[in-house]
Amino acid sequence: MIQAPRGTSDVLGEDALARERVAAEARAILERAGFARIETPTFEATELFAPGVGEATDVVQKEMYTFDDGGGDSLTLRPEGTAPVCRAYVEHGMHKLPQPVKLWYVSTFFRRERPQAGRYRQFWQVGAEAIGSDDPAVDAECILLLGELLEALGCRDVTLVVGSLGSPEAREEYRTELRAHLRAHEDRLSGDVRARIDSNPLRAFDAKDPGTRQVMHDAPRLLDRLPADDLDHFAEVRALLDEAGQAYEIDTTLVRGLDYYTRTLFEYQSGTLDAAQNALGGGGRYDRLIEQIGGPRTPGMGWAAGVERMLMAAPAQPVAPAPLDLYVAYAKPEHKAAAFRLAADARRAGHPARLELGGRSLKGQLKQADRAGARYVAILGDEGTSLKDMETGEQREVETGTVMHHITQGL
Ligand code: HAM
Repeated sequence: MIQAPRGTSDVLGEDALARERVAAEARAILERAGFARIETPTFEATELFAPGVGEATDVVQKEMYTFDDGGGDSLTLRPEGTAPVCRAYVEHGMHKLPQPVKLWYVSTFFRRERPQAGRYRQFWQVGAEAIGSDDPAVDAECILLLGELLEALGCRDVTLVVGSLGSPEAREEYRTELRAHLRAHEDRLSGDVRARIDSNPLRAFDAKDPGTRQVMHDAPRLLDRLPADDLDHFAEVRALLDEAGQAYEIDTTLVRGLDYYTRTLFEYQSGTLDAAQNALGGGGRYDRLIEQIGGPRTPGMGWAAGVERMLMAAPAQPVAPAPLDLYVAYAKPEHKAAAFRLAADARRAGHPARLELGGRSLKGQLKQADRAGARYVAILGDEGTSLKDMETGEQREVETGTVMHHITQGL
């Protein structure tokens, strides 16, 4: 039998309802803060992601689902949402709107990662992007909003870590210094880190092997090298978080898997998840991204959070069964058309209603109605229609045309 591809899964029953709850909480929280919904296409031109996400990142080097569309164009299933939202911002001339433009999404994303708990090849993210302002208050507001979402969902054991990467210029100087440090200890580094000393030395802070970790322990820190304006920006973000009573830790080694970040960087982590993928969500500022994908220089800030991971960190909510006002049963095939019409009329009038579709005996139908939690059961037979109130057990003969009236009155 053919199965769903590795790292993907069908979303069924309570899982589907839980995801809807995440989307509903996100909508309520983000729309209250002025974010409007955006949905970008599932695939994009491949060249959006290399300059956007970064040539030297794992996402671009190993994880993208890229294909030739048969017409000579190379397309890629979106591995993340920030570059697509920035593309849409430029494409639709959103710089003409009052800035910042605030957009949110809940969508599927695709990365060819090694599947494990909390890491999938198709996964859902809730994301928020605020484009067009470099005010540190935008950073603080975005950070708080993700915190609010995690709290509303009841995610457990959550910590916020923040850091700053400064401007690309400041980072370039620091990179040179860091490369020298890595070269001086090259023999103790993992092969992966060694291969990226030139292209992406900062990723060494993310390495898990003990040798590299030891070398990184003594490495110079970017935060100690930032110029005054970057430090001021970071100080104001922190002051606003303090003002709002949001607790956080400063992580001088925080690096994220995407290259577009400038200045503020943050992540909410949960102790309930495995250390290797304990990030519920995170993001940061990306003041050069729009320029990198061919637009005018425009600052931006945002985050994305994994829906599956947030649900793993949150207690399961009891799910109430869907209400069913009317179950329409019928005794013989000749009553089927009238039964069909009654169920359709009830639904059109706004009542959840179901018709027997499984070819059950009348007894089987009544059992099914009970199991489904129907409030009323209409039974169509030779002698007319009888309506049973499943709560009181009362049953009476009624005109088929008045069933709706009785239900509405009873409810
Ligand atoms: P990211 O850190 O790559 O950032 O992903 C954000 C979140 O998506 C992660 O913290 C994690 O919860 C979830 N996630 C990522 N990959 C997977 C996976 N393979 N399986 C399950 N969940 C996953 C971004 O995507 C940026 N676009 C965030 C951002 C928005 N930065 C600025 N604006």
